[in-house]
Amino acid sequence: MVVPQPVLEAAVDARRVVVVTGAGMSAESGVPTFRDAQTGLWEQYAAEDLATPEAWERDPAFVWAWYLSRFGAVAHVQPNAGHLALARWAGTAADGARSASVRVVTQNIDDLHERAGSHDVVHLHGSLTSFRCERCETAYAGSVDVPEQPVERVDPPTCPRCGGLVRPGVVWFGELLPLEVWEQAVALVEDADLVLVVGTSGIVHPAAGLPVLARGAGAVVVEVNPLETDVSDVAHVVWRETAALALPALVAEVEARRGQD
Ligand SMILES: NC(=O)c1ccc[n+]([C@@H]2O[C@H](COP(=O)([O-])OP(=O)(O)OC[C@H]3O[C@@H](n4cnc5c(N)ncnc54)[C@H](O)[C@@H]3O)[C@@H](O)[C@H]2O)c1
Ligand SMILES: [Zn+2]
Repeated sequence: MVVPQPVLEAAVDARRVVVVTGAGMSAESGVPTFRDAQTGLWEQYAAEDLATPEAWERDPAFVWAWYLSRFGAVAHVQPNAGHLALARWAGTAADGARSASVRVVTQNIDDLHERAGSHDVVHLHGSLTSFRCERCETAYAGSVDVPEQPVERVDPPTCPRCGGLVRPGVVWFGELLPLEVWEQAVALVEDADLVLVVGTSGIVHPAAGLPVLARGAGAVVVEVNPLETDVSDVAHVVWRETAALALPALVAEVEARRGQD
């Protein structure tokens, strides 16, 4: 695996690295992207039709069962070599003489970055492991039972405080991102020297605007994705490789270079 020279140079020089990740980051862990066809009980539904406030209004038990199945699926897979490389890079960068930082901003709702050891991950679209009341917004800390086998409908729990339905703690299509999370992501990419954009098609807004803001603020923008996307034109460098192959190779080279300094 050859790391493109401009990517390596930018990574070695950068004091502040931000890695913006999308569904492709977790693909090699076995988590399907939204482009992958759904299987089983949900095969005739597009994810974009289930991850909406309208779908929830229409049939909360159906949408809840879909999220439970995604929650269960993620619990059974492991972070891949790409997630692990990012976590290791953050640790060695912080320890280095020039003490650099490596931060992750993700569109993913899985917890694979955290399970790989990354800290302070910014989750633009919320998390599969958090839940809240749809009415009073209180976080739900009760237990959530994931069926052994996927089932078509499961009644969501009710809020102990107001009796409202408990909903997934994710941002659905058509919903606004929490303002403080968005502002944190913008501040990070605008302050970065290098922004790696990994495994995102760049079609979901406003997340898709982050590479543009990063470039406008002076960061080197690198895309890591086996396919061309809407991000490709914004990036200074495109690296047509998968997350689990590219990131460990990059981090190993950066560490080898640092060892020579
Ligand atoms: N793991 C998850 O949490 C998960 C899974 C599916 C969808 N989503 C949600 O889907 C929405 C869709 O946007 P998106 O841009 O994140 O995903 P997307 O499904 O629109 O695009 C995935 C991108 O990943 C690329 N890709 C596929 N395999 C890859 C690999 N091994 N390495 C690197 N890149 C690879 C594809 O070429 C594509 O460009 C987001 O809002 C996200 O929250 C999340
Ligand atoms: Zn409530």
